[in-house]
Amino acid sequence: MSSDSGSLDALLSEERRFPPPAAFRAHAVLHDPEVYERAAADREAYWADWASQLHWFEPWREVLRWNPPQAQWFLEGKLNVSYNCLDRHVLDGHGSRVALLWEGEPGDTRSYTYRQLLDEVCRFANALKGLGVAKGDRVTIYLPMIPEVAVAMLACTRIGAIHSVVFGGFSPESLSDRNNDAAAKVLIAADGGWRRGTVVPLKAHADDALAKSPTIEHVVVVARGGDLSKQVGASLKPGRDLWYHDLVAAASPDCPAEPMDAEDTLFVLYTSGTTGKPKGVVHTTGGYLTQVYATTRAVFDIHDDDVYWCTADVGWITGHSYVVYGPLSNRAHVLMYEGGPDWPDRGRLWQMCERYGVTIFYTAPTAIRSFMRWGEEWPGKADLSRLRLLGSVGEPINPEAWIWYHEVIGGTRCPIVDTWWQTETGAIMITPLPGITVTKPGTATLPFPGIDAAIKNEAGEETSAGYLAITSPWPSMLRGIWGDDARYRQTYWSKWKDTYFPGDGAKRDEDGYYWILGRVDDVLNVAGHRIGTMEVESALVDHPAVAEAAVVGKKHDIKGEVLAAFVTLKEKHPASDALLKELREHVGKKIGAIAKPDMIVFTADLPKTRSGKIMRRLLRDIAEGRAVGDTTTLADPAVVRRLQALYAEEE
Ligand code: WT7
Repeated sequence: MSSDSGSLDALLSEERRFPPPAAFRAHAVLHDPEVYERAAADREAYWADWASQLHWFEPWREVLRWNPPQAQWFLEGKLNVSYNCLDRHVLDGHGSRVALLWEGEPGDTRSYTYRQLLDEVCRFANALKGLGVAKGDRVTIYLPMIPEVAVAMLACTRIGAIHSVVFGGFSPESLSDRNNDAAAKVLIAADGGWRRGTVVPLKAHADDALAKSPTIEHVVVVARGGDLSKQVGASLKPGRDLWYHDLVAAASPDCPAEPMDAEDTLFVLYTSGTTGKPKGVVHTTGGYLTQVYATTRAVFDIHDDDVYWCTADVGWITGHSYVVYGPLSNRAHVLMYEGGPDWPDRGRLWQMCERYGVTIFYTAPTAIRSFMRWGEEWPGKADLSRLRLLGSVGEPINPEAWIWYHEVIGGTRCPIVDTWWQTETGAIMITPLPGITVTKPGTATLPFPGIDAAIKNEAGEETSAGYLAITSPWPSMLRGIWGDDARYRQTYWSKWKDTYFPGDGAKRDEDGYYWILGRVDDVLNVAGHRIGTMEVESALVDHPAVAEAAVVGKKHDIKGEVLAAFVTLKEKHPASDALLKELREHVGKKIGAIAKPDMIVFTADLPKTRSGKIMRRLLRDIAEGRAVGDTTTLADPAVVRRLQALYAEEE
């Protein structure tokens, strides 16, 4: 667990309370606390009520069928996600309303109305069909934050193809692993994207991945445009690769939306687990859309004149649910930005908030801590008076960062919604309702109406401090792990009977508020992104010089956690700075830059139990400079002293 109990006690003694401002409450989508009771009295009716705000080609016949751990929601209902995000609004007379406002890192801009976005999505959907993509086929999307990423996702949903978005920061090897696991037929990539003034050469990465992706038949390449496309000049392999702009220009804009079963798979998204192999989290159509629609409306309090900005990349679940599907199904104005937050300077995001009149802003604590370090002068230079609601997601937000966010960005007038959820939950689960909940810095407060949570001990009994549990199925829950039902059951449903185990520790206070304490398994949260320690260990051991590796998390002021690796080399390989650099690069190449260890300590041996298990708990103590706990089960207690000395040298 990443938070120790000392700091938790400090958190729980947090005295500050922030009730919703009266003016906010008066216009809030939800302002009456009776919604909690109404939802609890009849959960199925409550969710059916939200679902009925979407467009269905055919009504469902049953709200929920629960054969643990398999849930089905809105059985036999037929709907289409792109229809709900686009056609519906155009048919309701909102075709000329702006859907997407986009800004590239160099400052180029584009915008799409709902009608224009629908037109582009239909054309691209037809183009995909032309490439032989049919309902149920998998399509990998490897794009930067450009409008085409939303177009590509929506086009897949229009024809019933299953998308698998791979974050542009992932390496070619990670990309080919995901292509292969999903047996994807088509890859959609860009020539490149901008990040802090440099080009990320996505097509070149894709080409490396394609050498090991036998199932990919075609690659659609989006020209990012501007100087970038001139600079990188991607080469297309005849017969296999096609330009996006050629396909879209030649395609018909007429593409009826495929009526999908509520339980048809919508997408797969890979996330880290405790083993070396990422899991393909499977989400389906009706329940997923219902809950992202409902939470976007109620938690972000979407109104017609809002300008909504979630800074997440679409490569993560936050980008799926709260950049694309949630806001577009709510007919929102969505702002999207391609590049780095400190480019060309640290005022970039705030200048954009001013320029676009952003009213709702959703980001991660790691970003907030960076903003704090950069100083108040940057937000101080921009007019942030249009902001009315702030959100946080990805890890526990420390009260200091919460207060800074509240005062410096929110001008003390904006409620903050600290939203707890996961890739697997698909949508927000524990969160304040900004017009109802009295917030306290550091807690995600209460389960969203219609969500049942608890805190349990190992034996499954309720306690006030222990493991977070979700005790009833929810509409946007994952339906499985792609191709690995055993892992689905084992990871989430084996701890307690018929109860979902998210892998987080939590406490409840006297108001019943949930305080999330962090992961309790071997998964780290680095800058708001999950990284499995085993995944990084496998990458290290893959290097010819490495005999054994153990990776642990170490607290970090900005990133929350960083990785510390303890590495044992094979005998003929001497430790050197060059090798250290090489190992970091190797991990970057195998997984992606986010997984590079912050520090690597070479050691002749690792602390192990007599049965040979590496004691990561001790390594965590060493990495964080704490007094080392119980070492009586160690095979060789002297290892710890040697390691502490080595570690001190490295720091
Ligand atoms: C893990 C899920 C959900 C989108 C971003 C991350 C941690 C997430 C919070 C929060 C405390 C949080 C948990 C969770 N987490 N939000 N508001 N407070 N912890 O998605 O990569 O699936 O990671 O992020 O540990 O299990 P993810």
